[in-house]
Amino acid sequence: MIDRGHGLFVTLEGADGGGKTTQLRRLATRLRAAGADVLETVEPGGTPIGRKIREILLDKSNAEMDRHTELLLYFAARAQNVHEWILPHLARGGVVLCDRFTDSTLAYQGGGRGFGEETVLALHRIACGTLQPDVTVYLDIDAETGLNRARTGRGNLDRMDAQSLEFHRSVRAAYLRLAEAEPERIVTIDASPGANEVELAVWAAVAPRWERTLVR
Ligand SMILES: Nc1ncnc2c1ncn2[C@@H]1O[C@H](COP(=O)(O)OP(=O)(O)OP(=O)(O)O)[C@@H](O)[C@H]1O
Ligand SMILES: [Mg+2]
Repeated sequence: MIDRGHGLFVTLEGADGGGKTTQLRRLATRLRAAGADVLETVEPGGTPIGRKIREILLDKSNAEMDRHTELLLYFAARAQNVHEWILPHLARGGVVLCDRFTDSTLAYQGGGRGFGEETVLALHRIACGTLQPDVTVYLDIDAETGLNRARTGRGNLDRMDAQSLEFHRSVRAAYLRLAEAEPERIVTIDASPGANEVELAVWAAVAPRWERTLVR
């Protein structure tokens, strides 16, 4: 595996419509203004191969997709993102902002789909080796508010959004458990206020870590 280098690996996590994509863009702008070399990426997707895998995952006509297939496709997209984009950028000392990462799989497939943590972490070791985010911003939102925002923002729901409210509640519970288990890495931010207020909280969580990379 490529040396992970001195870069900073930041992931944004949370339920659908919590504001991950909005906050990732704002964070990228702030980091670039501070002089960082920022790579923005998203899962599933990011790389060209990842985008093709994303289409399969989010296509509503794939209603018969088996949960094992789904799990492996998420990790297939992730492996490509890690090896083609994330590790090389970190090795150059850059900052990587990733919209969803393995915590999403732990919450949705580990929690929501019932695979459990061990199975997901075993696949993480195959796809990503020892790579872990330096900091994970978890945007916490209740399932109803998140789905309403996602619906307003995109005008429709994809295959994952269209799951039951109960599924989305179990996903949130799984995120809260993860955040409780790893308070050093995962910063929980209340995503219910307006985007400007959330942006300040995200910056307060990430800026000190970015400054620390400068003296490494
Ligand atoms: N703090 C906020 N308050 C109100 N609306 C917001 C806030 N943040 C984002 N939005 C709006 O909510 C919608 C969803 O936001 P965004 O796409 O950033 O969320 P997301 O977490 O990336 O969602 P998804 O999981 O669906 O990709 C967008 O229309 C966005 O403009
Ligand atoms: Mg998004």
